[in-house]
Amino acid sequence: MKIGLIGTGRMAESLLANLQDSPYHIGWLAGRSSQRVASLSAQYQCQAWDHRKGQVVLDVIFLAVSDSSIEEVCQEIHEPVGLLVHHSGASALELLDHKHCDKAVLWPIDSLQSGGHDLSVTPLAVDGSSPTALNLISEIASTISVDVFEAGRPERQKLHLGAVILNNFFNHLLAKTDRLIHESSRDIRVYRKILETTLTPLMQWRDQHPVSGHVDHHSRQTGPAVRRDFSTMETHLDMIEDPYLKDIYRALSQSIIQLHHEDPS
Ligand SMILES: NC(=O)c1ccc[n+]([C@@H]2O[C@H](COP(=O)([O-])OP(=O)(O)OC[C@H]3O[C@@H](n4cnc5c(N)ncnc54)[C@H](OP(=O)(O)O)[C@@H]3O)[C@@H](O)[C@H]2O)c1
Repeated sequence: MKIGLIGTGRMAESLLANLQDSPYHIGWLAGRSSQRVASLSAQYQCQAWDHRKGQVVLDVIFLAVSDSSIEEVCQEIHEPVGLLVHHSGASALELLDHKHCDKAVLWPIDSLQSGGHDLSVTPLAVDGSSPTALNLISEIASTISVDVFEAGRPERQKLHLGAVILNNFFNHLLAKTDRLIHESSRDIRVYRKILETTLTPLMQWRDQHPVSGHVDHHSRQTGPAVRRDFSTMETHLDMIEDPYLKDIYRALSQSIIQLHHEDPS
């Protein structure tokens, strides 16, 4: 099968690395930076290619470009192609506006790091414009990860929102906390145990109940907001200089109070 890839960022390199030794090895690579295309092509044994020239007939093209460029890059493709794939949790399948081809989504629910992020246990949400497209993308995804499931746009969008709240916001809170305590004699690693306590039930739940079950986050909530300890909350707010962090502290405390004391259902 002839497979091409457009893009040279984190998603692109993950695909190159995770499909390297599979039957769906990526053979053609295109991107804006010719230097990056050359180095990735050498590393993952593929050919540099220009998707605007119509020189190769491909079975599959992965569009691993920024969400806002998917539509534009799609218009640039001159090759006839069997299946076009994007990797965005937030975008519609229909964004792949190209004549006479099937369309699919392969979205990894992960925070991809550079250098060919390992996707072997990452949940991969797939979608397809036809049963053939869905079959092929599911088959490709199954060679990458042990956890592949079908998700249409509404479910994908909701899961994407959850990923932003949990991962992106949590990582931002780590950065803010790091700054907040920078004058302390201890660094962010002082919170390793409390973070382990927060995440361990979710990890154990995944191992022990892979299909169903839920974690009781409600009864595990601690801290001044759930205790309605307004005096400590005021002291904390006085200590925070960063106006954005002040707003975050207020909003999250109000949300905890609302969930536990006003809408405990
Ligand atoms: N990063 C994640 O954690 C993650 C997770 C799941 C899904 N995804 C999805 O993966 C896709 C790619 O994201 P990424 O993380 O790989 O982003 P990235 O590391 O920022 O890379 C984006 C790539 O898109 C290229 N690009 C942007 N605009 C372009 C244009 N107009 N024409 C040609 N190439 C263009 C960039 O080229 P230049 O380098 O020349 O700018 C770069 O190669 C997105 O749909 C994203 O939602 C990402």
